[in-house]
Amino acid sequence: MAAVYLNGEFLPADQACIPVLDRGFIFGDGVYEVIPVYGGRLFRLDEHLQRLRNSLHAVRIPEPLGDADWRTLLEELVARNHGGEQSIYLQVTRGSAQRDHAMPEHPEPTVFAMSSPLHPVSAEIREHGVAAITLDDIRWQRCHIKAISLLPNILLRQQALDQGAAEAILVRDGLATEGAASNLFIVSDDTLITPPTGPLLLPGITRDLILELAEANGIPHREHDIRHEQLRDADEIWLTSSTKEILPVTRLDDRPVADGSPGPLYRRMLALYQDYKQHLRDQHTMATES
Ligand code: PDD
Repeated sequence: MAAVYLNGEFLPADQACIPVLDRGFIFGDGVYEVIPVYGGRLFRLDEHLQRLRNSLHAVRIPEPLGDADWRTLLEELVARNHGGEQSIYLQVTRGSAQRDHAMPEHPEPTVFAMSSPLHPVSAEIREHGVAAITLDDIRWQRCHIKAISLLPNILLRQQALDQGAAEAILVRDGLATEGAASNLFIVSDDTLITPPTGPLLLPGITRDLILELAEANGIPHREHDIRHEQLRDADEIWLTSSTKEILPVTRLDDRPVADGSPGPLYRRMLALYQDYKQHLRDQHTMATES
């Protein structure tokens, strides 16, 4: 049984309980993070903790722990789940209170963290890519907050799955913003383009790393709005997230993207991404051996 963390304790997942009046349960009143672990090491932890702080601040939940305590807690959770490759899910809710939309005056946040297996993207997908469909973005106007209330994202993702696609690419006012659970990149005229951050999309940690890798390796890139028509005419489309890394989209709305196979810049970026991960694993091995 996997070990989870709940409010100060590590315990088996089937023994972790929260009160029914927890506002996460009643209202979806909370925020979360998903952090990949490679070679036993939390990937880009500082960036994830910064985004968690931003989300907590935006929804007015007091920060339950400081960075050093988060690190200790999460490293212990990773170790208790045997290191290696994992996906850590971390959630903070506004805690329990009598049901009332008004926020409790003295909230006691619930802190929960668990580990799940991190499944690498299959060779089949890397070779052939996935299908995506475009859908109207029915979400709210604060998509930069990583809120646990994900009903619109669930409906959108399921609509994509029902139509035989892996992801929905969301369009608002004629602009493609991101996927239901991923960020969006296109390649057009040999330039990598992703929409600028703002309230209408999540500032993805993977997205930022890809921009960093593009910058460090002389790949032309820019943060710019992507019009719906531009998406249709793109040479490559990618979706990025902590769990899927980089997914090449080779069919959009039942039509092939360019020649219908993952493009050359995808292959290059995937190699850079894997090298970056390997470098971190090597650093960790050296640190634990010395
Ligand atoms: N979701 N946009 C949305 C709406 C997301 O839900 C996610 C990730 C991303 C990518 O962010 P990052 O690169 O930091 O993972 C973008 C996670 C994986 C989830 O909800 O499971």
